[in-house]
Amino acid sequence: MSILYDEQSRIITINTANTTYQMIIGPHRFIQHNYYGKRIGEEDLSYLHLHYDRACSGNPDEVFPSRRISLDVIPQEYPSAGVGDFRIHPMSVHNGDGSYGADFRYVKHEVIKGKYELGGLPSSYDAAGGAETLVVTMDDKITGLTLELLYGVFEEEDVITRAVRFVNKGSYEEVLTRALSMSLDIPYGKWDLVHFHGKHALERQTERERIGHSAVTVGSTRGTSSHQENPFIIIADRRTDEDHGDCYGMMLVYSGSFKAQVEADQFDSVRAIMGIHDEQFAWHLAPGESFTTPEVIMTYSPDGLTDLSHKYHHFIRNNICRGKYQFARRPVLINNWEATYFDFNDEKILAIADEAAELGIEMLVLDDGWFGQRNSDNAGLGDWYVNEDKIKGGLTSLVQKVNEKGLKFGIWIEPEMINEDSALYREHPDWVFAMPGRKPTRGRNQLVLDMGRSEVIEYLYSRIEALLAGNNIEYVKWDMNRSLSDVHSNALPASRQGEALHRYMLGVYELMGRINRNFPNVLLEGCSGGGARFDAGILCYSPQIWCSDDTDPIHRLNIQYGTSFGYPVSTMGSHVSASPNHQTGRTTPMFTRAVVAMSGTFGYELDPAKLSDEEKSQIRDQIADFKRYYDLIQSGDHYRLTEIGDDYFEAWEFAASDASEALLNVVVTDIQPNPTLMNIRLKGLDPDAVYEMTEKKYANENVPPEFSTDSVRKRELRGDALMNAGYTLEWAFGDYPALQIHLRRL
Ligand code: GLA
Repeated sequence: MSILYDEQSRIITINTANTTYQMIIGPHRFIQHNYYGKRIGEEDLSYLHLHYDRACSGNPDEVFPSRRISLDVIPQEYPSAGVGDFRIHPMSVHNGDGSYGADFRYVKHEVIKGKYELGGLPSSYDAAGGAETLVVTMDDKITGLTLELLYGVFEEEDVITRAVRFVNKGSYEEVLTRALSMSLDIPYGKWDLVHFHGKHALERQTERERIGHSAVTVGSTRGTSSHQENPFIIIADRRTDEDHGDCYGMMLVYSGSFKAQVEADQFDSVRAIMGIHDEQFAWHLAPGESFTTPEVIMTYSPDGLTDLSHKYHHFIRNNICRGKYQFARRPVLINNWEATYFDFNDEKILAIADEAAELGIEMLVLDDGWFGQRNSDNAGLGDWYVNEDKIKGGLTSLVQKVNEKGLKFGIWIEPEMINEDSALYREHPDWVFAMPGRKPTRGRNQLVLDMGRSEVIEYLYSRIEALLAGNNIEYVKWDMNRSLSDVHSNALPASRQGEALHRYMLGVYELMGRINRNFPNVLLEGCSGGGARFDAGILCYSPQIWCSDDTDPIHRLNIQYGTSFGYPVSTMGSHVSASPNHQTGRTTPMFTRAVVAMSGTFGYELDPAKLSDEEKSQIRDQIADFKRYYDLIQSGDHYRLTEIGDDYFEAWEFAASDASEALLNVVVTDIQPNPTLMNIRLKGLDPDAVYEMTEKKYANENVPPEFSTDSVRKRELRGDALMNAGYTLEWAFGDYPALQIHLRRL
């Protein structure tokens, strides 16, 4: 039993293996949040919160004449709105009587075996069978608006998920103008916010800042979780580093506009809220109707950021990802995008397939350009019929020919979008988002289909079904290449336009879910102009997401580093591309590109015909290495060994959970003359065991003899030496050298 209730003290305590979360039902049915942090025995933690008369923080009617209870001060589970809590708050409502506000008080609570589900929204699931659900019901007695606070408790995983269901039990319509998924008060301490910002082709850059008294919002109003921010934040004690200190994670299982906000209040208590963004959000609830928010995955670690990341990695692999490819080995693929862009025909694709098969690649992915009149990115989206001018003989025959070469076949689609220059648009111009009387803003010269409309979903499903049922397609790259603007649905009345954005997401999820259910053998890879929709919502349907359109390995270090705080390597789509790189023009060694791409799902995105024999032989080795290390990389513990940008090299490691082996990866990003030597302390090894170290490759083959070491290099070292004294690498030379060392416990 991880959820406990003490009748006498009216305390609800949630215990996971290493954390405790506690609330108390106080006088007048207020719920006070007592604590979230390291696991604590049976203690009633209400003593932490002392109630004083705080000037200018008002008092609810029932506590009169006391001035000690103020909603503006006490830590809360889910703050009310408009009744005296002036901190950032997770909900707002416009009531049918014209007033704005709701005063939620405890009604009842219930503990249910198993994990709740959220209807049309993706959410985590109970893989091992031990999860429990706590439902705390609160209501506003004047309007009848009722809250069900949902807590999913995963004891072993140290995870508590949260979501809220609003039910209108009153007699008139209510309009929710903000309905966030959670609120968490952290009353004491000094805290930093860690978040992951970016832009197209440079996503998830790590930023850490102090939480002060002005509210800071991390969010997106773009209708996607976005390149610009990720729906994942960490609140870390100012002293917290990778290996020590308190930190809380909050990750939203949602792929549309979102908002996470943090603020220290007048008494320095930190509040964090997270959920669907309230911009352009207004949800009408007629009597009897309900609205359910997406869920937030929360975890806490007293042991620093690495431990927090490991909890997320484990949870996403086991309780978010699902389907055939959750654990099954994913094929090493070649994608033709950077090899051909739109300029291809069946012959070119088959030539790539021939070369790829020779190299040991397992799947060919046909990217954008195979359908409709799609000869550039100005036309064709919406017309999901093969272009037989390009693919002579049709798709079925191409797939067969590729299969005959021993390769699986995958394909690119972008179902949510439409070009005005398409048959679909000419037939259904009203299917797009567009505001009355205005020409919508184009993004990549494309418009957005209103995914909230059932006829749009039906059309798209029928086209995708025809594609998948008629051809042996084993992988689909589901792209989405613009931000949503001009959000207005022709299918909704004027009063309900505030629902269009969320209904769009519900439509996307419905379509993805249907494809998963009806084509369980197809591996989906999410994509959105690279990594604009890299979130736990999409991961419920596709176990991997293309991380970024930037395939430059040196930038990828940064992108994959930021991504690794919340998401496991098994979710990160990462490929070796040509050098000089197409996005940056930078030249890097083939080996370095592979070391970086191997810390992901691994594949190639280049024209193999342009490779030298030497490069081809390197690729064969890389694929063999990747397959050899597959389990270690994809399900081992990932360690960030350097802080990005802090030194002239980056290092990271995978260690098997039983410490039997490890893989150390190093890339020199800013080569130095006469350098400080690179000493790296490994992690996750068995201190008492001896490890045999095999240095796989060193890219700087042209090291002048005077730079080679004269020391005796030991290749068998104890785990405690490697973890505490570290390992010192040889002097590096040349452009972006990389090193990969495999460690095997003897
Ligand atoms: C997006 C994707 C790329 C590629 C192109 C095709 O930018 O991120 O990988 O598929 O679209 O148009």
